[in-house]
Amino acid sequence: AAATDIYRPALHYAARDTWLNDPNGLIFHDGVYHLYYQNNPLGNVWGNMSWGHATSTDLLAWTEHPVAIPCDDNEDIFSGSIVYDRTNTSGFGTGSVAPLVAIYTSAYKPGSEHEGIQAQSLAYSLDGGYTWTKHANNPVLDRRSANFRDPKVIRYDGGEGSCWVMVAVEAQDFKVVFYKSEDLKNWEFLSSFGPANATGGIWECPDLFPLPVDGDPENVKWVLTVNLNPGGPNRGSAGQYFIGDFDGTSFTSTSAETAGLHSPDDHGAYHWLDWGRDYYAAVSFNDAPDNRRLMIGWMNNWEYANHIPTTPWRSPMSLAREVSLQTIDGNLCLVQRPAGDWTALVTQEPFSLAETTIDDSEQVLPGAAGTVQRIDVSFAPGSAKEFGLVLRGDGAKGTHVGIRPDEGRLFVDRRQSGQTDFHESFPSVDTAPVRSSSDSYDLSIFVDRCSIEVFAQGGQVTMAELIFPAEDNTDLAVFAAGGTATISSLQVTQLE
Ligand code: FRU
Repeated sequence: AAATDIYRPALHYAARDTWLNDPNGLIFHDGVYHLYYQNNPLGNVWGNMSWGHATSTDLLAWTEHPVAIPCDDNEDIFSGSIVYDRTNTSGFGTGSVAPLVAIYTSAYKPGSEHEGIQAQSLAYSLDGGYTWTKHANNPVLDRRSANFRDPKVIRYDGGEGSCWVMVAVEAQDFKVVFYKSEDLKNWEFLSSFGPANATGGIWECPDLFPLPVDGDPENVKWVLTVNLNPGGPNRGSAGQYFIGDFDGTSFTSTSAETAGLHSPDDHGAYHWLDWGRDYYAAVSFNDAPDNRRLMIGWMNNWEYANHIPTTPWRSPMSLAREVSLQTIDGNLCLVQRPAGDWTALVTQEPFSLAETTIDDSEQVLPGAAGTVQRIDVSFAPGSAKEFGLVLRGDGAKGTHVGIRPDEGRLFVDRRQSGQTDFHESFPSVDTAPVRSSSDSYDLSIFVDRCSIEVFAQGGQVTMAELIFPAEDNTDLAVFAAGGTATISSLQVTQLE
């Protein structure tokens, strides 16, 4: 790779030589995962918003395709979703071909007929998602609003027949709005949800999906996710979720508090999709196989998104994550795990470490170095105030990921993670609440060339963070500060 491209991810999608933000139109169709995304086809900062396109069969290796839906003089193509219209309710199908239909936000440009308005529009594909035609009568849903966007459409089956349901946002009002339709063209208002819980920034990119509780298909709850910017638990962009019920008309949450009751210090009272700095605009796939609920987020943060030091591309996507609902200590919580099938990537015997106690020191692990790897580690706390790992290090500096048991916090410290000075808000120590289980802290960490994703305690808490280390900073170390900690087990699997 060119020296300038040392950050190009191996396990995560990034465009070849352009800018991307939100994942759009995630759908599994004909054996292929389609990832569309907010794309500037002409540059590597935000602008000329169009839908880029990539596909994968394993959620790990992605192939880029030509721009799917380009902007024009009239509109930018903002975020949205895609459905497979099996029974051709929209009439866009022909003969035996049922259409894929994209529902996107038309962000009308200055000088256009609907200048200043954001409304929902359609495009369809009859070739499995590779080429798209805009509907002649766009927009199909217009509230004369300047901030009505990010439609996610799902097929809802309430028992008395099914229909299309859309969730979208009135971004400045901290509201998710619900609509329904028989044909994707005519939409009827159902209800709205919000403001609730975190309202420190505008609401964007909502999603709505059912999940079995603890795997029980007879006990289904609905999850409403909403991304907000800024106002995340560690500054800037982040996503929150609500658990509740959807009856075909409205969503009622058992985890929502009326906005304004919580100060920013009470972030722990909310359900966050991810506690890291770099997981935004997360949405899930429609029609994923085996009823899996798979999500992808944009791995960047609007605080510094346009400044991260990658070239010629800018911004990776997160790993695809499978989410499930689990009861933990009597509370329902979204649990996440990486969804890709890693087995094909493993070519060497993993490195492992036998039980080791360290005392107020840092130890580099010879044989565990690497730039693209999965680390599975369990710690038993001792007297140390904090303990953990140093990733992508050089024996002195690196990205610290660890636990402060007395505070009950997981942390990522990227102040010495490599290049950090491209933006004042990038170097940071970010934290999330975490509790030990049976006096053990378990972390699975996916390290790639410009990122880490931490899944703590079996995925109850996650943190996605960008890092920009020197190419030859490949050391992995363990550390304990101010006392002892025991590494009960540690395994490092190289994934290159
Ligand atoms: C979220 C967002 C969306 C919008 C898109 C524009 O990151 O602001 O609300 O549709 O990006 O690129």
